[in-house]
Amino acid sequence: MTTAIRNPYLAGNFAPVRDEVSVNDLPVTGALPPGLNGRYLRTGPNPVGPVETGAGHHWFVGRGMVHGVRLRDGRAEWYRSRFIRGDAAEDSPNTNILAHGGRLLALEEGGGAQVTIAPGLDRMSTWNFGGALRAGYTGHPKIDPANGEMHSISYLMQPGAEYLRYDVMDAAGKAIHTAELPVSGIPMVHDMAMTATRVVVLDLPVTLSMDAVGRLAAGTPRSGDGIPMRWNEEHPSRVGVLPRGGTADQLTWIDAPRCYVFHVLNAYDTPDGSIILDVVRYDTVFRDVFGGPADGPPALARWTIAPHRGAVTEQIMSDYSVEWPRINQKLAGRSHRYGWFGGTGPTSLRLSDDVDRDRGGSFEPGPLVKFDTTTGEASTHKFGTGRVTQEPTFVARPGAEAEDDGWILSVVHDGNTDRSELVVLDAADMQTAPVARVHLPRRVPFGFHGNWITDDEISA
Ligand SMILES: [Fe+2]
Repeated sequence: MTTAIRNPYLAGNFAPVRDEVSVNDLPVTGALPPGLNGRYLRTGPNPVGPVETGAGHHWFVGRGMVHGVRLRDGRAEWYRSRFIRGDAAEDSPNTNILAHGGRLLALEEGGGAQVTIAPGLDRMSTWNFGGALRAGYTGHPKIDPANGEMHSISYLMQPGAEYLRYDVMDAAGKAIHTAELPVSGIPMVHDMAMTATRVVVLDLPVTLSMDAVGRLAAGTPRSGDGIPMRWNEEHPSRVGVLPRGGTADQLTWIDAPRCYVFHVLNAYDTPDGSIILDVVRYDTVFRDVFGGPADGPPALARWTIAPHRGAVTEQIMSDYSVEWPRINQKLAGRSHRYGWFGGTGPTSLRLSDDVDRDRGGSFEPGPLVKFDTTTGEASTHKFGTGRVTQEPTFVARPGAEAEDDGWILSVVHDGNTDRSELVVLDAADMQTAPVARVHLPRRVPFGFHGNWITDDEISA
């Protein structure tokens, strides 16, 4: 006898969609700025198979599906959704989609394959950077806006793989540096940070659980074992500071606040040799709840890393809960003022009355939040009752000089109609009505990450 367990990450708008859709000439409310020429691509797990949705289901598990909206000359030309398919059936990264080296890349951490996708989303193939990747990559590489280099910290979710790998690809996508960085156990390293001169490795206390690996191997998974990573009281919490292009002997480890960080907003060097690192941090994850990061709410924090003193100091920057941090990418690795976020969790109730109070500290989507790191002030955009968003993406206005001169794009799910929209906001003024709303033909499930990609970026 099987017992049906209602997994919150398989219900509502977390639930997968079954088919691939192509629709042209989408209806728009408002006016799409003519300067928005490109495509918004977003991805997430879309688990439709019996194994993916079985007893061990974890939110992070499932083949990827890309959702794309093509905008050109003030029109919404198309919406397309496609399962991500590499050369082998299991090659279906679900975490991020971005452009680098002239290619569209669908990415995932932990050892799965990466996939390159043609601009129209109809051709895909497995991609290992021309043979440079022997195994695995990350969903969150960092691209330097000054020279186009892409830096990454990767790990293998595999017993015995007690190292991280630091890779650098040049602007053309060619591997120019790799180094193995020894660690103890198998820490989950979802994101990393990069400044103009250094990279920061996050070695935090969530590690591969051999108990969960054993249950998976025996075919007797418990809830959440699909991602066999657990909070580990025995593991250190530390940051590693490494010169860009450096090797393990140049790595300086410094104790960090005991917490977990999925996402980095940005990092930059200060004149005294310190690093400012803004993160979204959790007191714990996968300690009490295993199917997703629901132990407690995330918070925006600023870490000041002083390598010369061997110290990290932490300042909690907001008294409510945000995730999905994004900046103006032109400032990646440089001093930023603004961050844009999706409001999440119970403390975002102060910002949104629309959030279900019973969801605890889960990734409950909510309003869009802009945070000013110089004043500590937040401004929000609420989309209306039952209408919620996740990750924003900033797109600069052509010729813009101010950091926030541009648009914020995000997918909004309308719980009243169970449909989704691509909503364009004025990035400088979150209080005003949307600039434009592109009505999509169907809902886009809550997912992970997306980016705005221009034609110039995928000329290959
Ligand atoms: Fe992520």
